[in-house]
Amino acid sequence: MSAAPPSHFLQFKDLSRDELGYLFERTRWIKDRFKRYELYQPLRDRTLAMVFEKASTRTRVSFEVGMSQLGGSAINLNRGDTQLSRGEPIEDVARVISRMVDVVMIRTFEQTIIERFAEHSRVPVINGLTNEYHPCQILADLYTYVEHRGRIKGKTVAWIGDSNNVCNTWLQAATILDFNVHVSTPPGYEVEQERAGIYNSDHYESFADPMEACRGADLVTTDVWTSMGFEAENEERKRAFADWLVDAPMMEQAKPDALFMHCLPAHRGEEVAADVIDGPQSVVWDEAENRLHAQKALLEYLVCGRVDS
Ligand code: CP
Ligand code: NVA
Repeated sequence: MSAAPPSHFLQFKDLSRDELGYLFERTRWIKDRFKRYELYQPLRDRTLAMVFEKASTRTRVSFEVGMSQLGGSAINLNRGDTQLSRGEPIEDVARVISRMVDVVMIRTFEQTIIERFAEHSRVPVINGLTNEYHPCQILADLYTYVEHRGRIKGKTVAWIGDSNNVCNTWLQAATILDFNVHVSTPPGYEVEQERAGIYNSDHYESFADPMEACRGADLVTTDVWTSMGFEAENEERKRAFADWLVDAPMMEQAKPDALFMHCLPAHRGEEVAADVIDGPQSVVWDEAENRLHAQKALLEYLVCGRVDS
């Protein structure tokens, strides 16, 4: 046993480089055991509460299945089925839920909502996506990169499209793990450093031309043009983002062995061409599967602290 675990995982920078290294090791160990059908149940009698204020497939399934595989259980709370929908203050919900469960995962709108919850929670709180960040996604994506290519330090990630919650989280990760992000967004959708939670542009560079951003990249990644909560802007965004579609000519700018990632769900023919997401450089299904393994390591760490294998 060593240092006490962090209380919460509200944004990517809540974890240090050392903790990330530990989590990647644990992810590999937990995944390998799981693939050998060996039971590993450090969270017996522990419960995860999942609060969803937005839709989900991967996050819901990976957390619920992950808790079950670790020997615990998960309960799903959709906003509409709870007293949140009738105006119960988030602070009161946090006080109550955290007296009954061992860890909480929340998917919500503004980051301030999850911060208010965490402030009043007795147990660790995990960000399952907010308007600003999606730290569990990048934990899985980085593990996926490491699995396929080894260390990401010094490598170049090309982010094509919206400077959204997933982009912001890549930028935080780049600062911690010392890699570079080439960001290309349409005019008006550029990175906002304060919103991204970074303090300088040491680990990213902005490109007006997405082809330029992809040049020499080790990894090309994108996401939907319109994130959940921004649906009213959909038509305007479709016009603005039309040239930010990752297609084969764009992938050809990257290194020949560059990977393609997308957090999913994807819109083929909008942010990514079908022959890219379904092509040989794409690792999107590994990314999705690794949500399960990386989050099991995260849950173990937040609930049990560091453990010896
Ligand atoms: N990538 C991701 O978080 O997917 P879901 O919205 O399906 O959870
Ligand atoms: N940026 C997307 C990610 C979905 C997993 C959204 O927030 O809707």
